[in-house]
Amino acid sequence: MSANSRHDAWNTGESYDRYMGRWSRQLAPRFLEWLGVKAGCDWLEVGCGTGALSAEILARGKPGSQVGLDPSEGFIHLAMQKVEGPRINFRVGDAQDLPFAASSYDVVVSALVLNFIPDRHKALLEMRRVCRPGGIIAFYVWDYPGGGVEFMRKFWQAAIALDPGAADLAENKRFPFCTREGLTEMAQNARLQSIEVTQIEVDTIFRDFDDFWQPFTLGAGPAPGYCSSLDPSSREHLREKLRQELTVAEDGLITLKARAWAVRSRVD
Ligand SMILES: C[S@@+](CC[C@H](N)C(=O)[O-])C[C@H]1O[C@@H](n2cnc3c(N)ncnc32)[C@H](O)[C@@H]1O
Repeated sequence: MSANSRHDAWNTGESYDRYMGRWSRQLAPRFLEWLGVKAGCDWLEVGCGTGALSAEILARGKPGSQVGLDPSEGFIHLAMQKVEGPRINFRVGDAQDLPFAASSYDVVVSALVLNFIPDRHKALLEMRRVCRPGGIIAFYVWDYPGGGVEFMRKFWQAAIALDPGAADLAENKRFPFCTREGLTEMAQNARLQSIEVTQIEVDTIFRDFDDFWQPFTLGAGPAPGYCSSLDPSSREHLREKLRQELTVAEDGLITLKARAWAVRSRVD
């Protein structure tokens, strides 16, 4: 683990869901709509986490079979509780060394994962290996370099203003390749074919300031990991700065946007 990835903690599923799973759940149906996969396919989801995309695949994708894989036992445990069905399985594993035979799946997908994998190229080659000829490989990641995740950007802007050393931890600095060009090049390097890239944007609506702030204190993910590592007084300063800077509507809601890049491709 590098110094800048030290807060990438994927342990407690409930905390992750409060912070990010709830927004990934909103992206998932939009992604599947764009993907347009026919019924009856065998699906593999790499880095399924707590099952945000898994649930949508099961509900909308009419899969013949479905496997969700993630290295986090805690996340897999929650995904298994939340997403149940006769043709779905979850297992613990690593994208860089997929425990499946070559050409086992028609569709291999991944949601908000690739940027967190130490060897992304290897992971894509593995996804390609287990995908059948003519099959689909598709994924989405946040548009970090474009400032597309406004709630995260607001958090880091406030954090960096108080602690300039935090700049290296922010996702826009860590994941500069999450652009149309960077993702296309990554897919081309893995010899994926017919590569298409689009943007998907959702509203992230927080009920009130507490709904915005509290998930950052739960430690699941880079920004919450950083927030939890602060001493109580520094954390309070950060909270207060964010409270001053966020725009709260008359009805108390804080409405921000979150934008992802989605990529789909074919295996030859
Ligand atoms: C931001 S979460 C996304 C989870 C879920 N796909 C979603 O959309 O909510 C990142 C996920 O990547 C997983 N992950 C991290 N390293 C991984 C690896 N080497 N192989 C597979 N998954 C990995 C984490 O355990 C975590 O579940």
